[in-house]
Amino acid sequence: AVSKFTFTYPNPTRQLLTTTTRTAEATRSNSVPNARPETTTLKTYSGMLDERDMKEQPNGSDIDEIESESEYDSGDDIDIEAELNDDSVELVSPDQSAQLQSSIGVDKDGDLIVARLRKGVIEIEHRKSTVLNLVGLQIWRGALLLADYILHNERKFRNSHILELGSGVGLTSIVSSMYAREVICTDIDIGGLLDLLRDNIQRNVHLSNPNCRMSVCELDFNVSYQDYPRSLKDQLQNVQYVLAADVIYDDDITEAFVRTLVSLLLELPKLKAIYIALEKRYVFTLEDMDSVAPCYDYFLRCFQKRNNRFGVNRWKLINVCMNFPRYFDYDKVKDLVLLKICHATK
Ligand SMILES: C[S@@+](CC[C@H](N)C(=O)[O-])C[C@H]1O[C@@H](n2cnc3c(N)ncnc32)[C@H](O)[C@@H]1O
Repeated sequence: AVSKFTFTYPNPTRQLLTTTTRTAEATRSNSVPNARPETTTLKTYSGMLDERDMKEQPNGSDIDEIESESEYDSGDDIDIEAELNDDSVELVSPDQSAQLQSSIGVDKDGDLIVARLRKGVIEIEHRKSTVLNLVGLQIWRGALLLADYILHNERKFRNSHILELGSGVGLTSIVSSMYAREVICTDIDIGGLLDLLRDNIQRNVHLSNPNCRMSVCELDFNVSYQDYPRSLKDQLQNVQYVLAADVIYDDDITEAFVRTLVSLLLELPKLKAIYIALEKRYVFTLEDMDSVAPCYDYFLRCFQKRNNRFGVNRWKLINVCMNFPRYFDYDKVKDLVLLKICHATK
């Protein structure tokens, strides 16, 4: 199937709107906000945005660099979950509503300038269902969550060099290419996945920023860093951000994934952070008599074992606060988590 994924750009465009109801005084004096009747502003404004758009209105670019994060502490799992759940409420905050109000201006003729939400569409060819080893041919919520995070933090990713692991059909990489200088999209070469990834990148090439270089190559978590092709190792030297969406669902893959993460943390000189989006996927087990998230827990244990090899944590594992807006239309379920890994000293 080919699906269209509509998103809202983080920066509204400002458009001039000529009003017929502006006051004679405003026209005469060539002036300014005070001369404009309040009612005209509100009437025009509510005609521009419907309720749904308002809910999806992103924070202003002044806010987008502030990243509220809570550090993972291996002994205190329950607190982290509570913090995530509290933060995942999606309402228009006072800050956002203030931004909406202030996004209306008046030009020198007294005409209204209104901020319009700009929409974009990503077209992705994918399968709706597959056998387990071809799950990359489908699109997963983690990809949309990570894409939301990139849109919300566009300044962080602008001109950066990004590596995506387990890219699947490519949605997160395509969103990254709107801002980054380089995106290296990787996955295993199975069931025509890398060809489909290339096709999807080509389908959406008009969305990428013109300075972005995109490439697709195989990176299998089961292959050790030493055995990567020379050309890939060279490309990786510039990578600043590593992304991975929904790659934690099978313990063998998770173990290989953690080995890959550790190699990248040790080998990439410019690496600033790794972002991992996943769905915890709770199940109730009789053994635990409780709901548990076995794949997520296994990942945390694997990572912590590697992290704390010599009695000190070399890297920080952080839960990224989930209160950034949705730019894509999907069900942002409570099980979704965004983790950040970076060097303990940075
Ligand atoms: C659930 S899919 C997620 C795909 C995509 N990131 C998304 O969120 O839509 C898991 C991805 O991990 C990839 N994967 C599985 N085993 C892998 C391995 N050994 N090395 C690299 N990637 C692997 C799959 O091919 C697939 O693309």
